[in-house]
Amino acid sequence: MTKHLSLSALFAFALAHCAPVAPLPGDAAALDVAQSDAALPSNVTWSEHVAPIVFEHCASCHRAGGIAPFSLSNYQAARPMAAAMAASSAARTMPPTLVDNSGACNAYDHQTADWLSNNEVATLAAWAQQGAPEGDPARTPALPPPPMGLANVSARIEMSAPFLPDATRMDEIRCFVVDAPSATDQFVTGYSVEPGDPRVVHHVILYALDSEAGVATVTAEDARDARAGYDCPGGAMAPAYPAVLWAPGGPPTALPSGTGLRIAGGRKLVLQVHYNMQQGAFEDRTRVLLQLAPRVEREGRMVAIAATNLRLPPRMTDVVAQGSRAIPASLGRSRLWGVAPHMHTLGTDMQLSLRSSSRCAMDLHHWNFHWQRLFLYSAPLDLNAGETLDVRCHFDTSSKNEVTTWGESTTDEMCIVYGYVTSA
Ligand code: HEC
Repeated sequence: MTKHLSLSALFAFALAHCAPVAPLPGDAAALDVAQSDAALPSNVTWSEHVAPIVFEHCASCHRAGGIAPFSLSNYQAARPMAAAMAASSAARTMPPTLVDNSGACNAYDHQTADWLSNNEVATLAAWAQQGAPEGDPARTPALPPPPMGLANVSARIEMSAPFLPDATRMDEIRCFVVDAPSATDQFVTGYSVEPGDPRVVHHVILYALDSEAGVATVTAEDARDARAGYDCPGGAMAPAYPAVLWAPGGPPTALPSGTGLRIAGGRKLVLQVHYNMQQGAFEDRTRVLLQLAPRVEREGRMVAIAATNLRLPPRMTDVVAQGSRAIPASLGRSRLWGVAPHMHTLGTDMQLSLRSSSRCAMDLHHWNFHWQRLFLYSAPLDLNAGETLDVRCHFDTSSKNEVTTWGESTTDEMCIVYGYVTSA
């Protein structure tokens, strides 16, 4: 099984843990009690200690009708998952935030980069270790309502017809050429994505093409086969920047106030949808909801910091690639508001830093192709005029028998961080 099929592997893992379990030995559980800064109560119970954590950080996806494959929204559902919950939270793979938001390398807004405190991780571990007791049901808080949709929608971008992903594949990454939301230039200031069928829709990226030449390229790609859209595992297949980046469970995203990303008037866009067929193939018509403004105080740009010259030798557990990019000096002093990392399926870790001060801008330890989106800082990083940003990507090529190079296909690799930058 290749790494990009990990969704089904995880699902199998989750199912394996669905059988009722006795009190759990839990190495992972023991491990993290030490991480805790505050003292834990001697009897950790679902109703008093665990449900508040799960309702805040997990239940938006792990609920009936949610995008996760099982619910954690009540004691009966959560109890058999206690060991897996402790393990995935200690490993920082759940909630699925790719960037390190522990405070060791910047602080991110919790809406875009949800992160458990060490104390919360230790609470889940202790609960699993103690046999996952319920406690007094009367003390269980109410399950919060599902997350709200995007307010003040100014445009909806939609595939022109429903699309049936290929049932013979585990993953299909398909691009659809869609109409511009307006005949005049507009700025995206906020967005959300409504998956047509959440059982198959994984991440979604709306690409704004750099030029009209790109429209010709993607239109030709689209005409290659009889099905709607075209295969596009690595990106739009033409020079473009992501204006919307979304992964399942992603709440509506507001770009920092006063900023926005330009969408050229009348120019077609490319909607990339990652379909995953773990639950089967179902027809989908995904929509992107946009908040648009005719002008913004500071125009945002997605600056790609990449290592493009990839030649990754096979059969190695840690191959490092490095790249850099100077912020256009014409911007003068600038601000970095957030990051959207991107690799394919061999990626493991990634770091971004500022050349002038060696300051850490982003640290990431558990790359997962399924959860890529835009992570916004709590406060922007100030950049000198013409600041250079350095990116390092780590890859595990042990599953490969030949050299891996840069490219758009899933068997190729990429190493990019899109930095959301404005003038200061
Ligand atoms: C943004 C949505 C989302 C949130 C929030 C979320 N999960 Fe998940 N979780 C998923 C999905 C989807 C899967 C299925 C596997 C996958 O896609 O990675 C999953 C799988 C799991 C699994 C089984 C696989 C594994 O990694 O062990 C566990 C256990 C789990 N989640 C626990 C949690 C806990 C505990 C929290 C909160 C602390 C949480 N999840 C928050 C979406 C979410």
